[in-house]
Amino acid sequence: MSGTEGRIIRAAGALVEAAPLRNVGLFEIVRVGPRKLLGEVIRLEGDVATIQVFEDTAGLALEDPVVATGAPLLAELGPGLLGSVLDGTGRPLEQLAASEGAFIGAGTLAPTLDRERRWGFVATARAGDRVEPGDLLGMVEERPGLPHSIMVPPDCRGEIEWIESGERAVTDVVCRLAGGRELTLLSRWPVRVPRPIAEWLPADRPFVTGQRVFDLLFPVAEGGAVAVPGGFGTGKTVIEQSLARFADADIVVYVGCGERGNEMAEVLEEFPALLDPRTGRSLMDRTTLVVNTSNMPVAAREASVYLGLTIAEYYRDMGYRVALMADSLSRWAEALREIGSLLREMPGEEGYPTALSNRLGKLCERAGRVRALGQPERSGAVTFISAISPPGGDLSEPVTQAALRAVGGLWALDAGLAHQRQFPAVDWETSYSMQVEELLPWLEREGGAGWGALRREILELLQRDKELREVAGLVGPEALEDRDRLILESAALVRELLIGQSAYDPNDARSPIGKTHAIAELIIRFHQSGTETLQAGGTFGSLEVPRARRAIGGIRSLADGGDHLQRAAAQAEVTRAAGGRREVEVTV
Ligand SMILES: Nc1ncnc2c1ncn2[C@@H]1O[C@H](COP(=O)(O)OP(=O)(O)OP(=O)(O)O)[C@@H](O)[C@H]1O
Ligand SMILES: [Mg+2]
Repeated sequence: MSGTEGRIIRAAGALVEAAPLRNVGLFEIVRVGPRKLLGEVIRLEGDVATIQVFEDTAGLALEDPVVATGAPLLAELGPGLLGSVLDGTGRPLEQLAASEGAFIGAGTLAPTLDRERRWGFVATARAGDRVEPGDLLGMVEERPGLPHSIMVPPDCRGEIEWIESGERAVTDVVCRLAGGRELTLLSRWPVRVPRPIAEWLPADRPFVTGQRVFDLLFPVAEGGAVAVPGGFGTGKTVIEQSLARFADADIVVYVGCGERGNEMAEVLEEFPALLDPRTGRSLMDRTTLVVNTSNMPVAAREASVYLGLTIAEYYRDMGYRVALMADSLSRWAEALREIGSLLREMPGEEGYPTALSNRLGKLCERAGRVRALGQPERSGAVTFISAISPPGGDLSEPVTQAALRAVGGLWALDAGLAHQRQFPAVDWETSYSMQVEELLPWLEREGGAGWGALRREILELLQRDKELREVAGLVGPEALEDRDRLILESAALVRELLIGQSAYDPNDARSPIGKTHAIAELIIRFHQSGTETLQAGGTFGSLEVPRARRAIGGIRSLADGGDHLQRAAAQAEVTRAAGGRREVEVTV
């Protein structure tokens, strides 16, 4: 504690100015007023500090004391994060809700991690070992099947003098280094600083989402960052929740920045009700929720994304693959805008601070696949999926544009598609991934041969379908040639059976990549066989579209997409439906 103390000289909304505050640093945490509200220094001019207050500032008065703490906003890291629900500064909502009503009491000093709970610590390092940052000291079974590594903090090294297994609370000492430094299950890290790593690893494997439209058409890398912009009700939250449940990640960190007051209640109700398909238990077993609403102070909302990132990095450092979701990043950007305007900064586009793009870029840079610091060697990843709520669904607005400069992929949602109940309502024309080429070798190997060609053919069908529908709108579908009518039918199969996927269908909410490949292959097979039939003089009327649809639908209704025999039978059936007389060759 530095003990530095000043007085409030000005207060405006979430900001206060205090002086004289000497020897405080930028981003240092201070305690404001008699209720000791949590605040953060965000500007320093001489001995005047401008402070954003993470709590309701009502009742603060000029001359109230402001006391520096000597430390920045720190995340408490350790066992017990999984299953917890935190506010933007890391205070657990559930325990507080029990003692203080629905909202946190002002100035409450609530630690993130439960101080009472004991964990079985199993030491793996030994007295006499020399340890470096990131080295493993031991393990705690945080949740069944999810061991929690206790690592040497990034700023610490030396020889172990004493270490002992046993039942420990998070603040109990488990290890002492020569020189006296004591280590506990709990460590702290400043949320605004990326945790150090040994090295970045190439983005050469996909973040497998279980959603066909993403895995097939717009795959992003594990460790990538992707933006999911969509207007009101287009399915952003459903997508984030589907990814949380079904994507190939070990740990989920979900940052909810809601716009409506009751949205926190919704998230708190909905999320724990989600079941983990792997265990049948609550998804909360491998999730940390960070929750904010618009009626919480803006500064806390601004901080929440950094807290989420820090927790995600911490599990990454243990060797886990972490999915970090923000819903929605627009609310975070709006918090920046509000704080910027209170600071009377020169506003940029639509009032957002000119630093928006830079700040967003820095957030996304913290995503990645890494080799973690320390021994034993391990790699982990943070994949960052941000929903964005552009007003009116207009992607030219500043937050979406800033995100596009920072991410490797765009999954754009379209209100028209959502209105037709084509879900996920992904606009395939606007969406993209910049990582497809790097990911294809993995997808061809693990998903199925010809993945890249299938992807191209599906996109081409959708493109030609769009052009033809414009023509058909003018002249009527009957006036189209047979091969064009076949394109319309094949594209309809793509929309309904391939990229259409209900989040509520227990057999189809998650599509393993083998199933995704099988469905795409069947549709392309139908289209190609049908085209050959027409070229050989057959008519469109001779093609049995409903029969093909049934065969493809049969594979789609199987949770795993069927075994080799089932797929071979579907291939034969689709080929017959597309021309009958043609020789049926079956690949098994
Ligand atoms: N994949 C899906 N499968 C089935 N239904 C879906 C799917 N995605 C969205 N929906 C439907 O659309 C509705 C709205 O979705 P959601 O709440 O996710 O939209 P949102 O974009 O988050 O909206 P808001 O802008 O209000 O946050 C859902 O309640 C659901 O009925
Ligand atoms: Mg939503």
